[in-house]
Amino acid sequence: GFSWKLADHPKLPKGKTVAVVVLDGWGEAKPDQYNCIHVAETPTMDSLKKGDPDKWRLVKAHGSAVGLPTEDDMGNSEVGHNALGAGRIFAQGAKLVDQALESGKIYDGEGFKYISECFEKGTLHLIGLLSDGGVHSRLDQLLLLLKGSGEHGAKRIRVHILTDGRDVLDGSSVGFVETLENYLAELREKGIDAQIASGGGRMYVTMDRYENDWEVVKRGWDAQVLGEAPFKFRNAVEAVKKLRQAPKASDQYLPPFVIADDNGKPVGPIVDGDAVVTINFRADRMVMVAKAFEYEDFDKFDRVRVPKIRYAGMLQYDGELKLPSHYLVSPPEIDRTSGEYLVHNGIRTFACSETVKFGHVTFFWNGNRSGYFNEELEEYVEIPSDSGITFNVQPKMKALEIGEKVRDAILSGKFDQVRVNIPNGDMVGHTGDIEATVVACKAADEAVKMILDAIEQVGGIYVVTADHGNAEDMVKRNKTGQPLLDKTGKIQILTSHTCQPVPIAIGGPGLAPGCRFRRDVPTGGLANVAATVMNLHGFEAPSDYEPTLVEVVDI
Ligand code: 3PG
Ligand code: CO
Repeated sequence: GFSWKLADHPKLPKGKTVAVVVLDGWGEAKPDQYNCIHVAETPTMDSLKKGDPDKWRLVKAHGSAVGLPTEDDMGNSEVGHNALGAGRIFAQGAKLVDQALESGKIYDGEGFKYISECFEKGTLHLIGLLSDGGVHSRLDQLLLLLKGSGEHGAKRIRVHILTDGRDVLDGSSVGFVETLENYLAELREKGIDAQIASGGGRMYVTMDRYENDWEVVKRGWDAQVLGEAPFKFRNAVEAVKKLRQAPKASDQYLPPFVIADDNGKPVGPIVDGDAVVTINFRADRMVMVAKAFEYEDFDKFDRVRVPKIRYAGMLQYDGELKLPSHYLVSPPEIDRTSGEYLVHNGIRTFACSETVKFGHVTFFWNGNRSGYFNEELEEYVEIPSDSGITFNVQPKMKALEIGEKVRDAILSGKFDQVRVNIPNGDMVGHTGDIEATVVACKAADEAVKMILDAIEQVGGIYVVTADHGNAEDMVKRNKTGQPLLDKTGKIQILTSHTCQPVPIAIGGPGLAPGCRFRRDVPTGGLANVAATVMNLHGFEAPSDYEPTLVEVVDI
């Protein structure tokens, strides 16, 4: 029968402190001026790369290696940390939604049936990120859902858009809104009353995560539910174009707006009897808004009016909280994660990051599961992130504080594994500010040094890797790799993640002599890391895990 007990590794000892360090948004790319990791002073990461070639390599962090639909899909932190923690590749959000839409199964599911009971008398509201970035949502899925909802009885549809510019180029929102508007016009020709009702930039409206700033969610609630926003427009293309000019906001930070009719009346507030679907498949930035829609007792902000609606998520965003209770597509069931195994085998674990990535080394790492497996053996520490600023203003973020906390945890001798995410390369990379991203990479490197120094002191082992690329390439390129220019001759800044591989390095005084990277797993990916870490703790990995990256040779 099934057992949590892991077999002893035949050659690797137990009892070493293992630091697992994930640099967020730290890919490997050719060195040039747009590679902030190359430009920045990063002596620690450089020394790992230039050191023993058997202890540094690259692994895949995008596409099918992390469960995404195609090799054109860049990685992201959620799927990356899922793979790192689970040791196996699970079909992820985007792929599950694609399958459900393609087969039409989405319309037979419990979630769709639940919301469709409002279609006779109420309005269907779709809220979500409008882009083809594929990290949180996808435009083609929204269009398919609009079509299918119409075919399955929705008569009145309102779309509440969140503009992107983070997973896609800044400025691309105009084109996405135009595409959506054209599609809604087609639906109207078919007799469905379909319109955009409100909007705002994803970083300023609705899509906060890890309870960083409830004001963001409130701005969305006010526009989407109450029909109230500082800006009112007759149509959304005009809204986005004008707001980009004045107050001159980027796509990510557009202020909230509502669309109003000839009499200035908002066209789509959410009222009793309506159905609401949040169309994002990715969970992290939907949990807060889902709580606002679903919880009867809710005190994070004054909702003013709480309509009696039927609400469903594209997926269930938190399996532990069962939130929301209705959803259109079932999430991947990630079971038997490495964290759970190791805790069952007595490994005392410390996990730490700052707020913006804290859920990554806990919730995502543990297969989208909140909380501890065993409170006695685990400690998760969240360092509060700066809030109310964009991260290029404070590019060092909390790297130093994270480094100190992790160092102290290592030196305390209370833990067998310390697991950490250092967010700078990613969070600052997303701002598109190249100078700030260089500062960010340096700070991340310094945090790594603090951790490796502590590992040196206690005779431990380190594994340093990343979840996906970002800071190593800050410019959009053509097929041959040349930077692309915009109409005015300026380079097009790349704010998104990349499809680059990421480094992984092992070392430390506790690493057994002869332990090195295997040469027969050339296409390894993030999912191979879990078995690797289990080995370094002195255990064999479960047989259905992706193979380990390490072996022990006689020396
Ligand atoms: C975000 O949500 O900030 C980006 O879309 C992706 O971020 P990630 O690095 O957490 O995947
Ligand atoms: Co990111």
